[in-house]
Amino acid sequence: MVKIKNTFYVTTPLYYVNDKPHIGSAYTTIAADVLARFHRLKGEKVFFLTGTDEHGEKIAKAAAEKGKQPKEFLDELLPFFTDCWKKLNISHDYFIRTTDLMHEKAVIKFFKKIYDNGDIYLGEYEGHYCVPCESYYLESQLKGKNCPTCGKETQLMRENSYFFRLSKYQQALLGYIESNDFILPETRKNEIVNFIRQGLQDLSISRTSIKWGIPVPLNKNHVIYVWFDALLNYITAIGYGSDSKKFKSIWPADVHLMGKEIVRFHAVIWPAMLLSAGLELPKKVFGHGWLTVEGEKMSKSKGNVIDPIEVSEKYSVDAFRYFILREISFGSDGDYSEKALVQRINSELADGLGNLLNRTVVMIEKYFDGKIPKAVNISKEEKELRDLTLKKAVEAGKQIDLMEFHKALYSVWEIINASNKYINDMKPWELAKENQKEKLGNVLYTLAESLRITSILLLPFMPETAEKIQKQLGLEEQKFDDALKWNLIKEGTQTGKAEILFKKIEEKEEK
Ligand code: MSP
Repeated sequence: MVKIKNTFYVTTPLYYVNDKPHIGSAYTTIAADVLARFHRLKGEKVFFLTGTDEHGEKIAKAAAEKGKQPKEFLDELLPFFTDCWKKLNISHDYFIRTTDLMHEKAVIKFFKKIYDNGDIYLGEYEGHYCVPCESYYLESQLKGKNCPTCGKETQLMRENSYFFRLSKYQQALLGYIESNDFILPETRKNEIVNFIRQGLQDLSISRTSIKWGIPVPLNKNHVIYVWFDALLNYITAIGYGSDSKKFKSIWPADVHLMGKEIVRFHAVIWPAMLLSAGLELPKKVFGHGWLTVEGEKMSKSKGNVIDPIEVSEKYSVDAFRYFILREISFGSDGDYSEKALVQRINSELADGLGNLLNRTVVMIEKYFDGKIPKAVNISKEEKELRDLTLKKAVEAGKQIDLMEFHKALYSVWEIINASNKYINDMKPWELAKENQKEKLGNVLYTLAESLRITSILLLPFMPETAEKIQKQLGLEEQKFDDALKWNLIKEGTQTGKAEILFKKIEEKEEK
């Protein structure tokens, strides 16, 4: 069969709409945005999906506490998500809500399909249910009476339930996980393999105790378990059950991104559901770490929940996007602190990058009337900076592909630091005084080229900053491949007005 998938497909989890987004939800979404922008920059067709998880007891409870109907409650909170993603420059291609009719219809279709395959049966369930996680746990998994994931108290529930034959897929899942780089990073893969080896139990996928959900076809006393419903968004949003041509051109997902605590749902339940329906499996699931704030778990009760919009308004969107991916190694837990953010803005964005651009553009303006000079008879120093820049550009591209975002940014800063060192060593202002025009032209051309490449590499992370750099250098639209080539700026290109990229921030003294 001819393969017709032609799209890079990246997803975030669907966020529960029981509160405003915080830096944890922003973290996954920004990472997905970097991947989407990177693949577009490489000239690929991209589909970037995000959205909201709107069914289940957690939402029903949150709405009831406010004295509202769930849908009314959701509609009021939804703009917090859509506005936040807009503010953070998130370039998703589609935003799905699990209350969308198109999604609900497709979920019912899927349910019927695997029911007809014999993978769903009616039984009775008794277990310890955790509402915040929307998940059942075995007694042996609990911490006392509390949930092993979020630590909140669980409730003993008994109900008639439809079950999905998850156990049937144990061997197939192990085979897929062990022979592919399906789960990243490696530590999460090991956790999942151990979990599956302990033996999978069939999964309860309907509730009679809850009303807020998609009704089970054939038995309206049940609603479909919120995770079963929500996971299906990854296929319903791209045409499963409604537009098979579109579906085939996008599925399977290239990568599902998420936090580590929900890898199990994506790497065990989700692929088993797909196997049952005879669909291809996603290529990768990546479980990133958890963010703490100044060393503490983020929580409403502690009052330390950080609003990504507030941070972005105070320090700029790009500074926030940069910081969150530079500070924490993607895959590991990490800490957010305002102090660390300010330090990175001052040293890396203002001093490192901003200064480099400013000095370069101002000198081109001053010594060459704002026209990019020619490079002729370049010396050892120019060749060294050129070679390092091209080498680091290749490395950064590979690192983004591997989702090693912090390493990719480190590589870009190796270019920036080397360029700053080069300016200080070459002292173009002295070359100007000595009227060494050819040498001066070589230096400024070399700096402009390394900044051009830097701007391309930074575009997925800091789209506004990349655009500003390119405008100041007088560049046309760049593609990722242009970062792997030297000598692309044409002599005589008119530069734009020199403007400060990042202002330095006064660092508060610690007591
Ligand atoms: N609704 C489910 C996902 C369904 S996907 C089909 C869910 N929603 S959530 O809103 O609770 O979490 C969404 C994402 O935010 C998860 O990937 C989670 O890991 C991430 N984060 C929430 N708090 C976080 C931190 N403090 N740090 C990093 N990410 C965290 O789970």
